[in-house]
Amino acid sequence: MPSKSYQWEAGAILGDHSKKKHQILREYLSEYLRIRCSVPQQSRFRLAVVDAFCGGGVYAGGEVGSPIIFLDTFCNVSEEINLQRAIDGMAQITFECFCIFNDEDAAAIAALRNNLAPHIARCQDSEHVRLQVHFMNSEFEDAYPIIKARLAGERVTRNVFFNLDQCGSKHVKRETIVDILRSYQSAEILLTFAIRAMMSRLPLRRAPARDTILRSHGVSLSDVDDLDNLGRKPEWRAAIEQLIFDSYRNCAPYVSPFAINNPDGWLYWLLHFANEHKARQVYNDLLHENSGVQGHMGRAGLNMLTYDPSNEGIEYLFQDDDRQRARDQLMDDIPKAISEFGDAVLLDEFLRSVANETPAHSMDINQAMIDNPDIKVETVNGGERRSASGIRRTDSLIMKPQRSLFFMPPLKGKREDT
Ligand SMILES: C[S@@+](CC[C@H](N)C(=O)[O-])C[C@H]1O[C@@H](n2cnc3c(N)ncnc32)[C@H](O)[C@@H]1O
Repeated sequence: MPSKSYQWEAGAILGDHSKKKHQILREYLSEYLRIRCSVPQQSRFRLAVVDAFCGGGVYAGGEVGSPIIFLDTFCNVSEEINLQRAIDGMAQITFECFCIFNDEDAAAIAALRNNLAPHIARCQDSEHVRLQVHFMNSEFEDAYPIIKARLAGERVTRNVFFNLDQCGSKHVKRETIVDILRSYQSAEILLTFAIRAMMSRLPLRRAPARDTILRSHGVSLSDVDDLDNLGRKPEWRAAIEQLIFDSYRNCAPYVSPFAINNPDGWLYWLLHFANEHKARQVYNDLLHENSGVQGHMGRAGLNMLTYDPSNEGIEYLFQDDDRQRARDQLMDDIPKAISEFGDAVLLDEFLRSVANETPAHSMDINQAMIDNPDIKVETVNGGERRSASGIRRTDSLIMKPQRSLFFMPPLKGKREDT
């Protein structure tokens, strides 16, 4: 029997953390569409959206939920993109959107059919959007094989966006996240995770690892019962971020493990999973443009969760002063990371290797490469790149032979012969 935490018939209440989630969803989807539709010759873009915990679409007070955000963003962004393409003399582009809206609560789906109707009509009237909508009324894990079969029937193999806005933390299996990312070439997932249930849910065999992480951050196991107060403590936020990252980092090549920043405590996490490092970086950049909405506890540069909690690592809210700290750390971190490859590396390969472990803005990473006295950014033609905005993925990063005092390579112990 479904546990009804949302009364869609009577008017469900939209929590503060959900407003922030909606802001990120709307902004990220808009940016995603702009980036994916930037090829001048492109005339069609196909995307499947699975809103697997979709709710009824409208909250008490009239605020809209994720299904309406999806459809309105398709219409608004397709108009914006096509206007710009007309100005630039480029071909017009049509969005082909295949949407599945699922909720285990029949009342949610009944309300949604009603609430979504005018928004579906608006998309159908748009000359730039071709929309297909399917409603499903099942528990997500039961629905998933049917969703996959529907996507296969539509020959969807590539661009798929899953919004897994679960209530709590236990309605989406880890294996399902892995399966989504393996099944579709450029799958992306937004997963909501409420941490209240997390402590008891982690598999028992992981308990010692969990306890070690908690203790290393100064959280005592007896504190864990007092979640409301714990969510306000920095050491707790750091420990949870580490636990969540450790739990999910093997599900996808790129995982963004940041919390929703709530003055009442960090009790909800909004995780972003992607197959491409560019998507992870776009997500970071977007958090800076919406600063204060999500938060990270740890380092600001590379290796964001590898630090000594007793003397390093503070709150990073993607704001201007956080960016300054990131720039300072990146000046030191980037040459160290390049030296792990040897003395040169292709920029694209470098970014692939570091993107998962930094909250930094892409422009701050680029600027630190240009400003660093120990690094030369070299173009494919062998010239030196001089501006951060000009950096291309085909460039190379080369350690200069004369190092400044700034960069002291880590001392390595002498290798013992065996
Ligand atoms: C947080 S609300 C959804 C909000 C919606 N995504 C939005 O942003 O407006 C979560 C929804 O998930 C539904 N739900 C809870 N457990 C579920 C499950 N196992 N499978 C599918 N839906 C579920 C609930 O009925 C509820 O409507």
